[in-house]
Amino acid sequence: MTGLKINLAKASNFVSDNEIALFKSEIELHRSKIYNKTGAGNDFLGWVDLPSAITNDLLAQIEGDARKMQEQSELVVVCGIGGSYLGARAVIDALASPFSALQTKQERKAPLVIYAGHQLDEDYMVHLLELLNKKDYSVIVISKSGTTTEPAVAFRLLKSHLEKKYGEVGAAERIFAVTDASKGALKKLATAKGYSTYVIPDDVGGRFSVLTPVGLLPVAVAGVDIRQLVAGAKAMEEFLKKEDRFDHNPAALYAIARNILYRKGKTTEILASYNPSLSFVVEWWKQLYGESEGKDQKGIFPAGVGFTTDLHSIGQYIQDGLRNLFETVLTIETSRQELEIPVDPDDLDGLNFLAGKRIGEVNRMASLGTMIAHVDGEVPNLEVIIPSLDACHLGELIYFFEMACAISGYILEVNPFDQPGVEAYKKNMFALLEKPGFEKETQEIRKRL
Ligand code: PA5
Repeated sequence: MTGLKINLAKASNFVSDNEIALFKSEIELHRSKIYNKTGAGNDFLGWVDLPSAITNDLLAQIEGDARKMQEQSELVVVCGIGGSYLGARAVIDALASPFSALQTKQERKAPLVIYAGHQLDEDYMVHLLELLNKKDYSVIVISKSGTTTEPAVAFRLLKSHLEKKYGEVGAAERIFAVTDASKGALKKLATAKGYSTYVIPDDVGGRFSVLTPVGLLPVAVAGVDIRQLVAGAKAMEEFLKKEDRFDHNPAALYAIARNILYRKGKTTEILASYNPSLSFVVEWWKQLYGESEGKDQKGIFPAGVGFTTDLHSIGQYIQDGLRNLFETVLTIETSRQELEIPVDPDDLDGLNFLAGKRIGEVNRMASLGTMIAHVDGEVPNLEVIIPSLDACHLGELIYFFEMACAISGYILEVNPFDQPGVEAYKKNMFALLEKPGFEKETQEIRKRL
C-alpha cells in the first residue's frame, strides 16, 4: 500500500463507472504489454523496475560523489535539458526552501544547485560565468545522447572556465558526467579527461530517467535522501504491479479517466498545484506527457498552472473560456510547516474570521472552492493526493505518473517511448548554423528566410 490516492469524484459528470468498466480488458492487455515488454517502444521499458533494480553500490557511489561535491563546492551547476534536467529540478525544488538561493551553505546543509544547458540564452550564460568567477563550484553534465546542442555548448564554456580556474587536473575533479555507456561525444570526452562517469541505461529514455543517476546525483548533492526517494518509488512499483484490479489501480484509473475525457473533446489537461514548490514537478509532468503522447496528430495537450496565483490570471479562461479543458489537481494533505493567522484586535482588514486558522487550511478551502467552481464551469477535475511533501512520497508520485503515462499512451495507440517530433527543430537549426553534413538543408532553408 502507498500513500498516494486518486479521486475521480469531481469528474463523475463526465466519467461514469460504466465507462470506466469498459476498459477492463484493455487495461489487462496494456499492463501485460508493459510488464512482459511486448508493446510499442518495448526497448525503452527499463524504467519499469528501476526502483527495485537499483543497487546499494550505485546509491553508495552517488552519495560518495555527492559528499565530495558538497565539501568542495558552494554551487553545483547541473548542465542538461529535457529529461536530463527536469526530474532533478522537480525533486530539488519540491523539497528545498523557496529561498534557498538566499541561504548560506551551512543553512542549506548543501551547495546551491543551479542550472545551465537548458536553453541558449547568451545573457544567462554571461551572468552565470560572472557568478562562477566568485564561487567554488562543480559541474554535473548530463546527456544521454552526449550530442545535444544546448548542454554541449554550455558545457564547453563551463569546462573551459573550470580549467582556467582550477587547472586541468583540478577541473577533472569537479566534473561529473552522466551519459551513455559507450556512445556520444560526452562519453568520449569524459573518458579522455578521466571524469567520474555514470551510465544512463540504454533502455531508459530521458523523460523516464529521474530514478537513474540523471536525477539521483543532482538530488543527492542538494541534500535530499535518495534512499527515501527510491524507497517511495519502489513501494509504488510493487503496489501497481500487484494491483491487477484495474479499478483499484490508481495509475490505470488516471489513464482511463483522462482518455475518456479526451474522447469527449477535453483535449487539454491542466496540472494544477497549490504549492509553488511543485512548479517543476508540473514542468517535469508536462514533458513526460507531452513527449510521450503528442504524436500521430493526437494527444492531450499538457498545460500547467500554479494556484492560487494563476486564479488571478488564467483562472478566468479556465472558468469561462473554450470548454476543451480538464484539470488534474495535485493535493498535498499536510504542510511541512505550520502557521496560524493571528487575531488583530482592530480587525480593520476584516480578516478576524480567519484568525486561528492555518494558512494551509485557507489554501485547502481555496482548492476545494476552485474545484467546485471549475466543475460547475464544465471543467472536470481529477485529483492526485499525496499525504505530505517528502522524498518518499515524491518517489511514489514520480513512479505513479510514469506508469500512468505508459498505460495512457497505449490507450491512445501511440508509442509512448519515442519522440520523433523533437528532431524537426534540430535539423533546421543545424542547417541554419551550417553544421557539416547539412549542406543541402542549409541551401533549402536559406530560401525560406
Ligand atoms: O526525454 C527525452 O528523451 C528528451 O527530453 C531528452 O531528455 C533531451 O532532449 C535531452 O537529451 P540528451 O539527454 O540526449 O541530451
